Amino acid sequence: MNIQQNKSLKNYNTFGISVNAKRFISIDSVYQLQQLLKVEKDLFLISGGSNMLLTKDIKELVVHINIKGISIDKENENEVFITVNAGESWHEFVVWCVENNYGGIENLSLIPGNVGTCPIQNIGAYGVEVKDTITKVEALEIETGKLVSFSNDECNFGYRNSIFKNEVKGKYIITSVSFKLTKNKHQLNTSYGAIDVELASKEIEKPTLKNISDAVITIRKSKLPDPKKIGNSGSFFKNPVVSKKQFLKIKEANSKVPFYEIKPLGDSKGDVEYKIPAGWLIEQAGFKGKRFGNYGVHEKQALVLVNYGNATGLEIYQLAEKIKQTILQKFGISLEIEVNIIL
Ligand code: EPU
Repeated sequence: MNIQQNKSLKNYNTFGISVNAKRFISIDSVYQLQQLLKVEKDLFLISGGSNMLLTKDIKELVVHINIKGISIDKENENEVFITVNAGESWHEFVVWCVENNYGGIENLSLIPGNVGTCPIQNIGAYGVEVKDTITKVEALEIETGKLVSFSNDECNFGYRNSIFKNEVKGKYIITSVSFKLTKNKHQLNTSYGAIDVELASKEIEKPTLKNISDAVITIRKSKLPDPKKIGNSGSFFKNPVVSKKQFLKIKEANSKVPFYEIKPLGDSKGDVEYKIPAGWLIEQAGFKGKRFGNYGVHEKQALVLVNYGNATGLEIYQLAEKIKQTILQKFGISLEIEVNIIL
C-alpha cells in the first residue's frame, strides 16, 4: 500500500486550507479499504473535502476515498436504480443523470463534494433534498471491516442531518450510495422562487431536466463562490428554526424578515415554527462582504465564509464564533455550524 509522508491537504479541501497530513493514502477500491482496516483503525477520512474546516495538522492516517464507478442495477419503464461509488464527483453524477434524462437530482446541480458524503449531511438546495432519491447507503464498519447496508429509513435523514452525523458518527466509511430516479413523468421542482424567475427570463414554459439544471447552475454561480477560485465550504451555518414568539419579536423590529413556516408534524398540537435564513441574520448584523485580510464573509451570500488566500482554519473558525456571538446578542438566536470543524 502506498502511504505517502507529510502531504499538504490544501488541494483536498474546498476551503483550500493548507495543513499537513503526517501520513496519507488514496484508496480506490472497497477491497483495498478492507485490507487497510486490518492494520489501521485510527483514520481521518477525506473525500471531496467540501464540508470541513481543517484547523491543524492531521496526525492520524489520512484516507482519501477515491473509489470510482457508476452502475445501473435495474430499470423499468418509469424508474432507474443506480449505485454510485463514494469517490465519484457529485456534480459529474448529476450531469450524467441529466444527460441520460434521469430525474430527481437536477436541482442539486453544482454542489461541491463527492457522492459518498452526500447522505451524511443530506445535501439540499432549491427545494430538493437528496434523501428523497436515496434507496440505500453501503458502508464499511471500521471496527470489523464488514460491509453494511443502511436503508433510507435507517439513515434517519433530517435537514442537513443523518445517522452518520449522530449515532454512528466515526464508525463507518461510506463506500457507495444507491438512488432511485425517474425516467419519465419527472416530478419537477421549480417552486423555489429563483428557479421560476430564471426559467421565465428564458421564456421556458415546459422545462426539461437540463433547463432546470442550467437554471440552478446560473443561480448558484451568481451567489456562491467557486471553490476553485475562492476557498469556501458552502453554507457555514444551518438556517435556524425559532418559536413563534421569537419570530414575532424579530418581525416587529424587522418587518421584512424572510422566513419559511414549519408546520407541526401530522396532527400533533405543537405550535408553528419559523425557519429564518441565517444569511439574512448575518447580513443584518453587518458581516456581509466583510473582509479581514485573508478571509471573510462572501459579498453575495452572507452564509458563506471564504478563504481569499492563505487563511488558517483557526482564523475562519474564530470569525464563525464571532458571528455566532453577535447573532445571539442581536437576535437571541444560537446559530448552529453546519461545516465539520476539525479542531
Ligand atoms: N439572504 C439575505 N442575505 C444573504 C443571504 C440570504 O438576506 O446574504 C436571504 C435571501 O434574500 C432570501 C433568503 O435569505 O430571502 C434565502 O436565501 P437563499 O435562497 O440564498 O438560501 P439560503 O437559505 O441562504 C439555503 C441552503 C443552501 C442552498 C440554498 C438554496 C442552508 C444552510 N443553505 O441557503 O445550501 O443552496 O438554500 O436552496 O440550508 C449549502 O448547504 O452549502 C448551501 C449552499
